[in-house]
Amino acid sequence: MKKSSRFNGGVRGHPFFLTISVITITVIFVWGWDTTPKITIQLPSKQQFHVGTTITPHASNDLEEQHLLPDPKPVSSPPSLDSESNKGNNCNYAVGKWVPDNGTRPIYSGVDCKKWLSPMANCRLMKRTDFSYEGFRWKPDNCDVPEFDNEDFLNRMKNKTIVFMGDSLGRQQYQSLMCMATGGSRLDSDVEDVGEEYDLVKPRHAFLPGGSAYRFGRTNTTILFYWSVSLCKLEALNSSDPENGYSAMHLDRPEKFLTQYLHKIDVLVLNTKHHWGQAKLDRNKWFLYLNGTPINKKKLSVANARNIAVTNVINWLNLQLPQHPGLKVFFRTLSPRHFANGDWDTGGRCDSTIPLESGNQVFPWNVSEDSPVVEAAKGTGVKVLDITGFSKLRDEAHVSRFRSKIVLKYDCLHWCLPGIPDEWNKILYAQI
Ligand SMILES: *[C@@H]1O[C@H](CO)[C@@H](O)[C@H](O)[C@H]1NC(C)=O
Ligand SMILES: *[C@@H]1O[C@H](CO)[C@@H](O)[C@H](O)[C@H]1NC(C)=O
Ligand SMILES: *[C@@H]1O[C@H](CO)[C@@H](O)[C@H](O)[C@H]1NC(C)=O
Ligand SMILES: *[C@@H]1O[C@H](CO)[C@@H](O)[C@H](O)[C@H]1NC(C)=O
Ligand SMILES: *[C@@H]1O[C@H](CO)[C@@H](O)[C@H](O)[C@H]1NC(C)=O
Repeated sequence: MKKSSRFNGGVRGHPFFLTISVITITVIFVWGWDTTPKITIQLPSKQQFHVGTTITPHASNDLEEQHLLPDPKPVSSPPSLDSESNKGNNCNYAVGKWVPDNGTRPIYSGVDCKKWLSPMANCRLMKRTDFSYEGFRWKPDNCDVPEFDNEDFLNRMKNKTIVFMGDSLGRQQYQSLMCMATGGSRLDSDVEDVGEEYDLVKPRHAFLPGGSAYRFGRTNTTILFYWSVSLCKLEALNSSDPENGYSAMHLDRPEKFLTQYLHKIDVLVLNTKHHWGQAKLDRNKWFLYLNGTPINKKKLSVANARNIAVTNVINWLNLQLPQHPGLKVFFRTLSPRHFANGDWDTGGRCDSTIPLESGNQVFPWNVSEDSPVVEAAKGTGVKVLDITGFSKLRDEAHVSRFRSKIVLKYDCLHWCLPGIPDEWNKILYAQI
């Protein structure tokens, strides 16, 4: 296949393109589910039971599974190496600046890494023609972050498993790491699907929570994504009809995957945010539970429910750490959205293609905008991967209007890949 044929001009009418169109349209519909909640109030975890955050409802199933495309391609450019050493263990990675760097960015090619990226976010395969958003590196002020070296990463992760657990933004970070670790698919032939080992195989077309797991043969390194939008344990309320019935969403009980597989995990990266909306809960027939009993939704805002869930999963993991001495747990803070002049379903847009119009720096006095996560992790062994501030400066790096030929809706939530989640993984890499 010629490279040019992968761009839209060459594939119109091709069955593959039609498939992608269907997927794209489905995804646009589905994507609304991930963009729904307008939770803006962030109360610290102490003020848990207040009423009153406004949640704007839309939504439907939380079913946004993407199927990875087959068709691996050999790759030309290995990721750039850098001899900077890792001396940043006490570094505040959230404070620093974006610096232009066309020499080392992007870390991999979106065209070559097609296999591991959802078509919905592979902006190199869309109509987009400006790629200046790819040419910046996040540089923390008081430490050097090593450039990503996939050989070094795999060697350090020998016999180890890294798990991303969360929503579609967690999946983006996972896909980004797959591209980084394979060197943009250069090592694809070394990678084996091991989803079965973690019960991640689901019926074809099934819209069920799921995930994927791949293992690098040479180093026995596993990279896994597990879809859990709330990180809470879901329990069918009608056991004779578990698929279609109502579920209890236990704010104080960890997701089953964690309790089942924690002993097999070496690095865990969690996130949860964009699915905390009353409409999504209603649509999924999920009812908030605490202490094994239902909570009246008038008594607890969904934003506060998120705070409780975040606090509980962090506390639970903190208690597990002594029994799992090799385990490193990271909680990634919220990934900012950039809808302007409306929300995702009311004509909101993110049209800028000019990088860093609102500044390139996060200062030491800029506090995290995901304070519930920061507060919950304080004093525990769980580390915060605080990406909110510096990602917020990158409104031009979203998928925007480029997903399909006809602009149905803007995506100002998900990021183009290669792109911003690569920088999240770089500061993760610096800490493992
Ligand atoms: C980096 O390359 C992009 C094209 O990929 C270009 O638009 C941009 O101006 C370049 N940036 C710098 C700082 O040279
Ligand atoms: C791979 O690593 C796991 C531990 O994560 C270990 O149990 C297993 O024996 C390793 N397999 C090989 C073939 O080295
Ligand atoms: C990886 O696991 C294999 C098989 O269990 C073992 O022989 C090897 O020493 C391990 N390597 C490391 C670095 O732990
Ligand atoms: C549970 O599901 C079964 C099968 O669909 C149904 O017949 C029954 O009425 C349900 N029970 C409740 C309490 O909703
Ligand atoms: C960080 O501080 C600067 C300077 O005081 C301010 O202009 C900027 O808006 C702050 N950024 C955030 C995200 O609060």
